[in-house]
Amino acid sequence: MKMFKTIATAVALCAAFSVQARTVDAIKKDGKIVIATEGQFAPFNFFQGNKLTGFEVEVAEAVVKKMGVKLEWKTLGFDALLTGLAQDRWDAVIASHGITEERAKAVTFAEPHYCSGGIIVSIDGKTRTADDLKGKTVAVQTGTSYLTQVQKLTGVKEVKNFPQDTDAQRALISKRVDAWVSDKFVAKEAAAKNAKAGFKLGDMLFIERIAPAVAKGNTGLADAWNKAFEEILADGSYAAISKKYFNEDVRCTK
Ligand code: ARG
Repeated sequence: MKMFKTIATAVALCAAFSVQARTVDAIKKDGKIVIATEGQFAPFNFFQGNKLTGFEVEVAEAVVKKMGVKLEWKTLGFDALLTGLAQDRWDAVIASHGITEERAKAVTFAEPHYCSGGIIVSIDGKTRTADDLKGKTVAVQTGTSYLTQVQKLTGVKEVKNFPQDTDAQRALISKRVDAWVSDKFVAKEAAAKNAKAGFKLGDMLFIERIAPAVAKGNTGLADAWNKAFEEILADGSYAAISKKYFNEDVRCTK
C-alpha cells in the first residue's frame, strides 16, 4: 500500500510538472510559433548585424507565413536546441540538424529542407580524404554529426571539439589543427569570404538530409509544417531563396 502511494505520488508529480508540446491548433490559436536556431552557422542561420538571417531562417519564415502565424525566433547554443525542444521551451528547431537515428529517438523530424554533407577542409591541401586524416588532428563543432562521423574513422590522432563551428574554423586558420570538418556549403562560403585563410576543400566525408525538428510525437505540427513546406517548394519561393544563397537548388532530390 505504501509503495502504491509512493508510485501514485510520483505519477501525480510527473503529470503536474510535465509540459505538453503545443499542438498546431494551440499555435494557430495563439497566432505565433516559437522556433529556435543557433545563429552562428552561415549561410544557414547567422546574424547580419543584429538581424537573424540565412537560408534556413528565410525558409522557415516562408513556411510559417503559409501556415498563417507569426514567428518568434530564439537563438541559443547548438547544444541546447534539441534539449529545449524536449522540454517544450519552443515549438520547433531549425538549425541544420542532419536526420540521425539517435536524434530521431528524441525528436520528430519534418521533411528535410536541404541535402548536404560533411566536407574535409585543410590549409595544406594535402589533407583531402578520410585516409589522409590518419595521424591528424581534426576540429569539429560539439554535438554535430561531423563529430560523430570523424570519431568513427580509425587512426585519427585527435578530434578537438568546439562550442561553435566558427571556433573550429578558427582553430584551422591558426593551424592548431590539421583539418576542419563542417558542412559543404559552410566551408564553400568560408573559403570564398576568407581568401586569406587559404582553405582547401577536400572530399565529402558523408552526406546527410537536414531537417527541422518538433517535439517527439508532435506529428500534427510536423504535418502542418510539411504541407506548408510542399507549397513553397511548388510555388518557386524555395527555389528563389536557394538561388539567393547558393546559386543552386539545394532541395533533397530523393
Ligand atoms: N549538420 C550538422 C549536424 O547535423 C551540423 C549542424 C550544425 N548546426 C549549427 N547550427 N551549428 O550535426
